[in-house]
Amino acid sequence: MIVAVLSVCVCIVAIEYGVRVTEAKYFEPFNVTYDHRALILGANRRILISAGIHYPRATPEMWPDLIAKSKEGGADVIETYVFWNGHEPEKGQYNFEGRYDLVKFVKLAASNGLYFFLRIGPYACAEWNFGGFPVWLRDIPGIEFRTDNAPFKEEMKRFVSKVVNLMRDEMLFSWQGGPIILLQIENEYGNIESSYGRGGKEYVKWAARMALSLGAGVPWVMCRQQDAPYDIIDTCNAYYCDGFKPNSRNKPTMWTENWDGWYTQWGERLPHRPVEDLAFAVARFYQRGGIFQNYYMYFGGTNFGRTAGGPLQITSYDYDAPIDEYGLLHEPKWGHLKDLHAALKLCEPALVVTDSPTYIKLGPKQEAHVYQANVHPEGLNLSLFESPSICSAFLANIDERKEATVTFRGQRYIIPPWSVSILPDCRNTAFNTAKVRAQTSVKLIDSDLPTISNIFPAQQLRHHTGIYYISKSWMTTKEPLKIWSKSSFTVEGIWEHLNVTKDQSDYLWYSTRIYVSDSDILFWKENDVHPKLTIDGVRDILRVFVNGQLIGNFVGDWIKVVQTLQFLPGYNDLTLLTQTVGLQNYGAFLEKDGAGIRGTIKITGFENGDINLSKSLWTYQVGLQGEFLKFYSEENENSDWVELTPDAIPSTFTWYKTYFDVPGGTDPVALDLKSMGKGQAWVNGHHIGRYWTRVSPKSGCEKVCDYRGAYNSDKCSTNCGKPTQTLYHVPRSWLRASNNLLVILEETGGNPLGISVKLHSSSIICARVSESNYPPLQKWVNADLIGEEVSANNMIPEMHLHCQEGHTISSVTFASFGTPGGSCQNFSRGDCHAPSSMSIVSQACKGKRNCSIKISETVFGGDPCPGVVKTLSVEARCTSPLSAGFIQDAVSSF
Ligand code: GAL
Repeated sequence: MIVAVLSVCVCIVAIEYGVRVTEAKYFEPFNVTYDHRALILGANRRILISAGIHYPRATPEMWPDLIAKSKEGGADVIETYVFWNGHEPEKGQYNFEGRYDLVKFVKLAASNGLYFFLRIGPYACAEWNFGGFPVWLRDIPGIEFRTDNAPFKEEMKRFVSKVVNLMRDEMLFSWQGGPIILLQIENEYGNIESSYGRGGKEYVKWAARMALSLGAGVPWVMCRQQDAPYDIIDTCNAYYCDGFKPNSRNKPTMWTENWDGWYTQWGERLPHRPVEDLAFAVARFYQRGGIFQNYYMYFGGTNFGRTAGGPLQITSYDYDAPIDEYGLLHEPKWGHLKDLHAALKLCEPALVVTDSPTYIKLGPKQEAHVYQANVHPEGLNLSLFESPSICSAFLANIDERKEATVTFRGQRYIIPPWSVSILPDCRNTAFNTAKVRAQTSVKLIDSDLPTISNIFPAQQLRHHTGIYYISKSWMTTKEPLKIWSKSSFTVEGIWEHLNVTKDQSDYLWYSTRIYVSDSDILFWKENDVHPKLTIDGVRDILRVFVNGQLIGNFVGDWIKVVQTLQFLPGYNDLTLLTQTVGLQNYGAFLEKDGAGIRGTIKITGFENGDINLSKSLWTYQVGLQGEFLKFYSEENENSDWVELTPDAIPSTFTWYKTYFDVPGGTDPVALDLKSMGKGQAWVNGHHIGRYWTRVSPKSGCEKVCDYRGAYNSDKCSTNCGKPTQTLYHVPRSWLRASNNLLVILEETGGNPLGISVKLHSSSIICARVSESNYPPLQKWVNADLIGEEVSANNMIPEMHLHCQEGHTISSVTFASFGTPGGSCQNFSRGDCHAPSSMSIVSQACKGKRNCSIKISETVFGGDPCPGVVKTLSVEARCTSPLSAGFIQDAVSSF
């Protein structure tokens, strides 16, 4: 195995500013170089697998588990962007604490023996507010982002230097014994470069030179940047990168973003990328010469607070990633990729020493790439292939419909459609991308299982629907629907939203007065016309109030607004509220985009012609009173709170608060906000994000998700006709056992009495493994294949089942060895069934967190149908002792 030696030692590293800094050294210091076939870490030629985790999308308390799960899943590297606006919320005031403790995050990866890929940007995109740029950057005189512009370059250099210096001071670069092996400057600038003409070209050269000048001492990449200079590696971001070639043969083929799912916007369906296709894309990449691949995202997490980007990015950034938003394994994605990574690792020795693979056409849509080379055994410590010639092969069937039988080196291989078989020894198949033996986990966040602990029954309320509501005792207070403070100001004309709010709040109020004469009223009556407010462009939300009444809501990205108005004779208050729902995170000229109202704003339909409001006097007010007075904080002493009565009518712009308890244990916690409309929520002063019960289109979700054929973000999507997001993660570390303060700001009208607490757990697990599947990869690592004709195919496939931490298999609800049909939660026995199936599986698994069963007739007491390929299908329940006890309790008491 080729692995860099992990050695953790403590040494005095520097005497800086007169202070002695003691740092841990994680690796023997090594330099990172590369050629077109490998990244070279010290003396080791490597192909690497990287897991994307954005540190502020989780809490520091979640990081160790996420990193451990990445390692267990086969990652060598942890990758993240750096989020400038999180680290420098005010110009010159840095924040590297809490969720922004980047140093701690990098060190955690290192202490797990993982390398690190730091994408400094500092433009990130990432569906993150303003693409990661601090909003104050817009206010620097003469600034133009991401082009040959002196003020921008100065700021960018200052922040990138700050990060590089921090990493160097903390001894985190590989040559210092740290984990950082790669850095990124800019992000997908090639997508927008042409918008900037010559300035764009100059900027690319400047960014490269600037990055290299910082003395970080590890390679820099630029993604989607075909004109990256010779000493920067240009890399691929896409769903598939197997056709990608960097702009020089001296550079390695790298895939910085393998989109294993996709992001979600409010009112959209949930994306789902099937793991068979994802594994196919990864295997094809390494088959055709790839050396580094990063999952974007391996864990997506949550856009806490107001960090979600725009337009309209939702609070969850689950991304359909191998680790779900809550930090639980997303199966079978995680498990199948783990198997794939193990198979690829078996090929690594051959891959890194073969100059270029031999290509063999096996059929019209079938091809092999063979990596074979003579090696000197001393150079590599290879227990598996101690022969001067090592060989690994990939056999691909890119036919989207049909299975193929091919002959390779005199042997026949059956390859499912749209799949790759991996042969680490050029003979035996260790893995096929379409044959999933990993278990499926069905997450239960359902409320018909009582999820609230019986330890705190006082405030847990069971409704006749069986749902446990968070509390029946709520307080409420109204937000004024008008200019509310003396800090408001009056000016002529319409100001751009961000120029006023500086993104300190989503909300900006504008108010003006319109005089309506009796003859106007008469004119409208006689001609049967109504005055209309028209605005050329609005984003993201506009709410229109006349005389304190909400009369119109508009949502969109620079949409035109036409709103009929009802006026009274005399002076009328026209109040507009524009709202952002995450600032634009992608595209050229981000600094110019802005938000709120754009173009002309007028009222049409007056007898004397239109009233142009673009030049009227408007009074402006940033934010809501409750934000200003910090209603969400535990110290808030606002005396206007009154008790909410059960018959209270849902009302707009209302604050609610209550105290709630949570069950013990380690299961992640979510708030179910589906009874609410749109707003923001805080728990114990932590902003858990925006919520919105916006419903996705009814159509566009396929009944059957077919993994075959090229993926796009519309394919296999789910959740049609339902609110995009109803569950909101509240990290355990933000909660205490009892008396948690929940504060909600509701904008459109909802029912807080319907809010409930849910525990998120993988309650149902299923697996389906057939005799024709391949044995566990583990067997390959242990097998002594050298010199002997031991066929891996003689080894027996196995089914592995596991429950999440703190849970065990409490019951087996289906088991059939034979020819079972159906799928998870819908399995059925076939004509062939071994009667012992249930008892064998129960015996092997019940009461355990992990179990495995050999897929063999001998295990099941004889062959139930000779000559037929048999499959074992199992469905089981995982429960935690806490919830099991509670269910019992619940059953007996209701
Ligand atoms: C890429 C971008 C990422 C992310 C991704 C979509 O183009 O580099 O930051 O936005 O798209 O999730």
